[in-house]
Amino acid sequence: MMEKYLNVALPKGRLGEKVYAMFDRAGFPCPAILDNTRKLIFENEERHVRYFWVKPSDVAIYVERGAADIGVAGKDILLEYEPDVYELLDLGCGQCRMAVAAKKDFKDNTKRPLRVATKFTNIASRYYLAKGRDIDLIHLTGSIEIAPILGLSDVIVDIVETGTTLKENDLEVKETIFPISARLIANKSSYKFKADVIEALRENLEKETQK
Ligand code: PRP
Repeated sequence: MMEKYLNVALPKGRLGEKVYAMFDRAGFPCPAILDNTRKLIFENEERHVRYFWVKPSDVAIYVERGAADIGVAGKDILLEYEPDVYELLDLGCGQCRMAVAAKKDFKDNTKRPLRVATKFTNIASRYYLAKGRDIDLIHLTGSIEIAPILGLSDVIVDIVETGTTLKENDLEVKETIFPISARLIANKSSYKFKADVIEALRENLEKETQK
């Protein structure tokens, strides 16, 4: 028998709360989710929807492997990991950009590879490959901004939202790589077998983004 629930992976945190509010208005409410508990899974039996909170960078994994039928992930994650999922809609929220940043006085010495610190190694590699610039890639998992300050790297490739983190660490944007926003994604076989409900949700969410 086909599973009657629509399983939705939401990114835990500020963006997830905004996104849940959109799903609620789109006809898939689950009020229990707003209770301030440490629970990670919530169901609305009447609407046949089940939400779970996962780390934002893990949403695409749940969706790709079918543990979630649909989910919401940033364009940064989709471009970094290239998961085999359908991208159904730009939700318009969670806007920021992928950028190259460095110390204000940074000058590129093209005689040696550029040392690039980042969480986004695939994005950084592709970007510099396309520019024909040799790099020495340094894979970090957080606090990327201190790498150029301590001389670990020449530049960083990271997400910039308000620019406050860069400013407070005396760095500045040197190049913008691409704009980022949150996307609705679907598991490929769920999209086939739960087409009606996913399509209805997508259409309602699209109307929400136009308000
Ligand atoms: C991102 C990014 C920057 C910060 C930029 O980190 O890595 O550190 O946000 O935001 P700002 O321009 O508004 O200062 P995030 O908060 O996603 O946390 P993470 O480093 O744990 O991924």
